[in-house]
Amino acid sequence: MPVVISFVSTKGGVGKTTVAANLGGLLAAFGLKVLAIDADVQPSLSKFFPVHYRSSQGLTAVVTSGGNPSADCISRTIFSNLDLVYSDTPDAALQAWLNRREDRLMILRRAMRSPLVAPYDVVLIDTQGAVGELQKSAAMAADVMVSPVRPDALSASEFATGTIGMLDELNRLADFGESFRSGDLLALINAHERTTNARALAAVLRQRFVGHAKVRVLHTVIPSAAAYAAAATARIPVHDFDRRRRFGNSAWNVMHGLAWELFPSLANVYAGAPQCSTGDTGTGGVQQGAVA
Ligand SMILES: Nc1ncnc2c1ncn2[C@@H]1O[C@H](COP(=O)(O)OP(=O)(O)OP(=O)(O)O)[C@@H](O)[C@H]1O
Ligand SMILES: [Mg+2]
Repeated sequence: MPVVISFVSTKGGVGKTTVAANLGGLLAAFGLKVLAIDADVQPSLSKFFPVHYRSSQGLTAVVTSGGNPSADCISRTIFSNLDLVYSDTPDAALQAWLNRREDRLMILRRAMRSPLVAPYDVVLIDTQGAVGELQKSAAMAADVMVSPVRPDALSASEFATGTIGMLDELNRLADFGESFRSGDLLALINAHERTTNARALAAVLRQRFVGHAKVRVLHTVIPSAAAYAAAATARIPVHDFDRRRRFGNSAWNVMHGLAWELFPSLANVYAGAPQCSTGDTGTGGVQQGAVA
């Protein structure tokens, strides 16, 4: 079964889509077979990379099939090994559909065990920056959640109350049985400015979750850098955009560090040269590390 990582936060604009897309691009460049699922009703991940094959259906079919999609739901990006389920729900229809289903929190988890998803090594699910049934379903589908946090007072406070509140709410379901327990939540400090204030907030965040049963702050810190927006504009993974600049904080180094922290079995694996093709040459198999 693939390793499933969902990108969640109850705050918008913290970097979920940026990190999901770039991690997906890097893992695919390692040779892993990656499926990126855009579970945000505002389809940002769907547009992040160019698509060379667009399937007839997307997220709606995955969800409304009850998590066992048989239809043509998988699009292919121009990058080898990187496929996409695009978001096709511009309105609140899918949330409303989910609200009527008693099993709504388990639907995407069921989809992760479906034959459609089985061929992938890693699935990355991007969500919207607000609490909703779709986001909760994506959270419950994950082996681990990654929650980018900007080191400013508002973001840190929203993380500590909103996002952790959502995690606590989900885990109350565990009263009904262990299979209802969510994965752990990994906070990822993103867009870190080199200021005393940012450093202090990052330190407070780390301190606050030491010894927490379900929450951990990742060692990797993504600095604030123009490369992330520039690579998104160029529609290429940021490690590739920054390929020639292998100094300490370059996106090349930082994204490799993040991938290695999440998947220690990939430590010292480097992205190969970019390959654009119809691609489906996954190597198969990745051991869980931080995601275990
Ligand atoms: N490390 C970074 N350095 C500089 N800019 C960044 C960084 N990470 C993200 N950004 C920028 O921040 C903006 C918001 O990022 P992104 O869209 O990924 O956030 P999001 O959490 O997915 O937002 P939403 O909740 O609206 O889906 C984008 O313009 C992106 O380019
Ligand atoms: Mg987003």
